[in-house]
Amino acid sequence: MTVTFATDRRLWLINTPTFGYAARIDADLGVRHVHWGAPISLVTARALAEAAPGSAGGSFEQGPGVAELPVEGGDRFGPAGLIVRFADGARAVEWEYREHEIGEDELAIRLADRFYPLEIVLHYRARGGALERWTSVTNTGAEPITVLRCDSAAWTVPHRPDYRLSHLVGAWNSEFRLRRERLPVAETVLTSRRGITSHHANPWLAVDDGTAGEEHGEVWSAALACSGSWRVTVHRDPGGHTGWTGGTGHEGLVSRLEPGGSRETPIFAGVYTPDGFGAASRAWHDYLRAAVLPYPGESRPVLYNSWEATGFDVDESGQLALAAKAQELGAELFVLDDGWFGARTSDRAGLGDWHPDPRRFPRGLAPLADEVRRLGMRFGLWVEPEMVNPDSDLYREHPDWVLHEPHRRRTEMRHQLVLDLARPEVRDRTHAWLDQLVGELRLDYLKWDCNRPLTEAPDDAYEGQARAVHQIMDRLRADHPGLRIESCAGGGGRADLGILARTDQVWTSDNTDPVDRIAIQHGFAQLFPAQVMSAWVTDSPNVATGRVTPLRFRFHVAMAGVLGLGGDLTAWTPEELAEAARLVARYKIIRPVVQHGSAYRLTGEGALTGVHYVRGDDHVVLAWCPARPFGHSPGPLPLTAVEAGAEYRNLDTGATHSGEELLRRGLPLDLPAGDHASALVRLRRS
Ligand code: DGJ
Repeated sequence: MTVTFATDRRLWLINTPTFGYAARIDADLGVRHVHWGAPISLVTARALAEAAPGSAGGSFEQGPGVAELPVEGGDRFGPAGLIVRFADGARAVEWEYREHEIGEDELAIRLADRFYPLEIVLHYRARGGALERWTSVTNTGAEPITVLRCDSAAWTVPHRPDYRLSHLVGAWNSEFRLRRERLPVAETVLTSRRGITSHHANPWLAVDDGTAGEEHGEVWSAALACSGSWRVTVHRDPGGHTGWTGGTGHEGLVSRLEPGGSRETPIFAGVYTPDGFGAASRAWHDYLRAAVLPYPGESRPVLYNSWEATGFDVDESGQLALAAKAQELGAELFVLDDGWFGARTSDRAGLGDWHPDPRRFPRGLAPLADEVRRLGMRFGLWVEPEMVNPDSDLYREHPDWVLHEPHRRRTEMRHQLVLDLARPEVRDRTHAWLDQLVGELRLDYLKWDCNRPLTEAPDDAYEGQARAVHQIMDRLRADHPGLRIESCAGGGGRADLGILARTDQVWTSDNTDPVDRIAIQHGFAQLFPAQVMSAWVTDSPNVATGRVTPLRFRFHVAMAGVLGLGGDLTAWTPEELAEAARLVARYKIIRPVVQHGSAYRLTGEGALTGVHYVRGDDHVVLAWCPARPFGHSPGPLPLTAVEAGAEYRNLDTGATHSGEELLRRGLPLDLPAGDHASALVRLRRS
């Protein structure tokens, strides 16, 4: 990547093969936004920097231009990304340029207040096709500064006649629902006040002018590396300015920056593409692989987990029976879920007492782990380290170790309270038992769960808890290099760029109904690649929805991510077990393409949708048609990621198709009749 720097006008241009970004020093704004979009020349950047940015004028209006991190003060009335109160109560900030530094792929611009002891550094780093931005703030004085907001970055998109916002909403069991709606002329707040990333919103968004499609049109997109509370304020003003500012914490949280103290925000990464939402997602997937995931080159194993089949009813003999069946089907990792420890026979007790329950595992967990390994599988365990049931030895011993406020009720959710990880003794003990457990059992895998949001938490905890979780994970991983971690928070409540820098996959949702999963996976994959999207095949009827679906359909939906098995295998018929074994084997064949390829979302007629993964000359298409209206037969599914002049051979039937046919008419699908039809097609470009 090339960073071009113009000293004459204090203008910085960051050009990469996929995007250009420019900002300049401005006497009023500190650093003013100039350009975010296609790569541009320095000459163009200079011209854009000199052009007076729009302002309606008049004494009621804000001054021209938009800052790279807006502050309060002067004629600025938009949402501020940095809000402070100095010791004497003053709130306005007036920046002066101090210096900048350019590294190989990084630019840092330092500003200081003209009078008060406040400095910031705006960081820009081009990595993996994205622009990473973050901010450091320092109190250079002798008195504390109150910080009401300290965002990672503010982003501005170019003027367009209209704008549309894409974002993710949801709830437990229905995470990652993609919303794409006209951006109102207003401030739109996307946020989590829960101290976890949340099921309800995700710190990812995309903006286009209302005309972009899957494979065409300009898209500007950003995602925060925040696993605690966060807030992104998208601002479209009547004058045409559109952008957003975002970072950790929700509204109303206040913190102190002590004299000499510094703080660095998490990364807010941005991606630009002229080629539609599909290209934006592929850019995000490439970025995660290049700059976020700990082991992007690894393939994630097929796992078995009995949670949905057995709930808390786990014991050594039952798990051994399931392990034997799972191995026969081709599982490569066996995970023992909730219920193995303390008095954990339901969600009412035991959390915090992390020793195997002798009634269920009289010989401890080692014999199960050994047998799982003897069967050729890796062994993993479920843990929920941040939590405690009041009905537990840990809580009886240390009732003060949870987040709580004097004179206030301790809010229980799922009968549990949250351990205060800001207390060193709590953090150390949490790390110590995890370290011991992973070490003694040589655990290959932790499913790290978190089943409630924070309540009664001090302001700092809404970010601090998540940071402590990151730190414990980092330490465990450093000390146990073979350990892999799945991020889970009652399903997909903790999926973000921050957690994915120290976990290997995400439990996408507790909802394993394949029809619901198509929508959940569609939203999840806007930002995250298939290699982190855990997807289990479970029993039918589905426990959450009661829907009855064929095994093949359940597999074909789950095969679009990291395939897992989550059904009660002891109740599957010999025919089902044989079909499942065939489909697991087939998944292993397509896995390199699914987990490491580029993803193209497909839409056919009616309810027919699919996803097409491409890796080199290898192509895999998974297509799903949940419902078929009378008289309708879902037609061929048009592909987008093929070359018109090339030829493609179906590796299973031997049939060949020209690229032109696949583009214009579509891929013929051999869909069984009726609802819940699906197909898996493997093609090779010849
Ligand atoms: C919530 C998770 O999402 C489930 O998969 C399961 O692990 C339960 N917690 C266990 O309590």
